[in-house]
Amino acid sequence: MTILTKRTKYEHFEARSLLALTYLNMAKASPTFVCQNCGASYNRWQGKCEACGEWNTLVEEAGDSAVPVSIRAKRRGRTFKLESLAGKTQDAPRLTSGIAELDRVTGGGFVRGSVLLVGGDPGIGKSTLLTQATSLMAKAGHRTVYISGEEAIAQVRLRAERLGLASAPVELAAETSVEDIIATLSEGAVPRLIVIDSIQTMWTDTVESAPGTVTQVRASAQALIRFAKKSGAAIILVGHVTKDGQIAGPRVVEHMVDAVLSFEGEGSQQFRILRSVKNRFGPTDEIGVFEMTGLGLREVSNPSELFLSERDLGSPGTAVFAGIEGTRPVLVELQALVAPTTLGTPRRAVVGWDSARLSMVLAVLEAHCGVKLSGYDVYFNVAGGLRINEPAADLAAAAALVSSLANSPLPTDAVYFGEISLSGAVRPVAQTPARLKEAAKLGFGRAILPETARGDAPSDAGLSLQTVGGLTSLVADIAARGTPRAAARKREPADRAEKNATPARFRQRES
Ligand code: TYD
Ligand code: MG
Repeated sequence: MTILTKRTKYEHFEARSLLALTYLNMAKASPTFVCQNCGASYNRWQGKCEACGEWNTLVEEAGDSAVPVSIRAKRRGRTFKLESLAGKTQDAPRLTSGIAELDRVTGGGFVRGSVLLVGGDPGIGKSTLLTQATSLMAKAGHRTVYISGEEAIAQVRLRAERLGLASAPVELAAETSVEDIIATLSEGAVPRLIVIDSIQTMWTDTVESAPGTVTQVRASAQALIRFAKKSGAAIILVGHVTKDGQIAGPRVVEHMVDAVLSFEGEGSQQFRILRSVKNRFGPTDEIGVFEMTGLGLREVSNPSELFLSERDLGSPGTAVFAGIEGTRPVLVELQALVAPTTLGTPRRAVVGWDSARLSMVLAVLEAHCGVKLSGYDVYFNVAGGLRINEPAADLAAAAALVSSLANSPLPTDAVYFGEISLSGAVRPVAQTPARLKEAAKLGFGRAILPETARGDAPSDAGLSLQTVGGLTSLVADIAARGTPRAAARKREPADRAEKNATPARFRQRES
């Protein structure tokens, strides 16, 4: 039995708190569990990431820093000079790629010292597009470097040969170590453009995790971004996309880079759409349209012609939407199929449009126009693999839906645009003249547009304008011309079919 004096008691306490501190530091250095979806970190494993709600995404990774906290805490910050806002800055000189559709999406070319992330499904054509861009720039006399972490040099050469670009003076390497890449590129003239294909294959010595993990991707991207800012070279990082369409690895990479482009398309179709998701130096929602051919990606400078080229003329359920993508009007066909359901909960399948938006249009049709859709499956598709984000597509979507339900083909020479409000009113949208001009250019004869947009329409639009104030009148108009499906199926005598031409479900509630 020991009797502690006042002094020894104190020492005992100090020893214990020291021990606790050491434990704390050990805990910091011990492995952490990092969510591979959002990058949140935890100090123990759990099934669900509380930050993003995903299951089974936590992976054990070594901590970010090998430097113990106690040493880091002692380091004194170095001072730096603060600058004025009005200082002379090198204006962002842009480097055009020679591919007009790509330059449109970047906002006029690659900015010196910037980092751009290009994401897309495997096989969509990211490597093809970047091989074409680097080759064209190299041919124009710029030093361009293509680093492939995924393919061997021979494979990259084979692709270049297929594209007829093997003679371009692109500097090529198959490397994955970020330190080696930076050391190599720091020698000689600064490259104007560096492509890293892909960021998930890169690894850096500064962290211990395996390549492809969040920590590695983040640290590698950070090192490359630092190099770009320091050297003034433009860097393009290729990023993989997860099954739900996000660029794999942490979202933080998207926050770190200056611009994010996403390369989209339906695998079975030839069209590819390059979309700017984020751009510190240019507009977003600009799209570039390409077609995948046997000789690589071909630019499509008039996308409307492409999206309308395989139109199903005169069949019910299709409507042409006069949309705007970025700065450019794009006409696209919307297709709807409304069929009686055999399920308890009817199916709603949407490709190329927001499913919440479809639900809203269906609800408005049901609530304000008496169109009963609860007993029907609804399939909705945007032709050509385009993805529409504009609310202006509401009117065209509603027209396609009603046309399918009423078995009433819409006029083939008409385009539709307008936003539908929850009250069933049709509201005006921006850029009416540009939409009308594009429709007239492509040979359309009439436009169905919001009543309130008539004032915006130029007098020499070259189209006949048909305005709608509310959804009810549009529905009545389409239904009046249709043959109800049940009647068509039963092959009723002509007079009875005539009587049924406006089914009760379309009859207007008011007036
Ligand atoms: P790729 O650029 O390798 O895709 P990613 O880098 O996005 O994974 O493109 C692969 C696809 O493109 C492949 O399915 C073949 C097709 N392709 C063509 O159709 N024509 C071509 O000239 C080239 C080079 C590829
Ligand atoms: Mg590739």
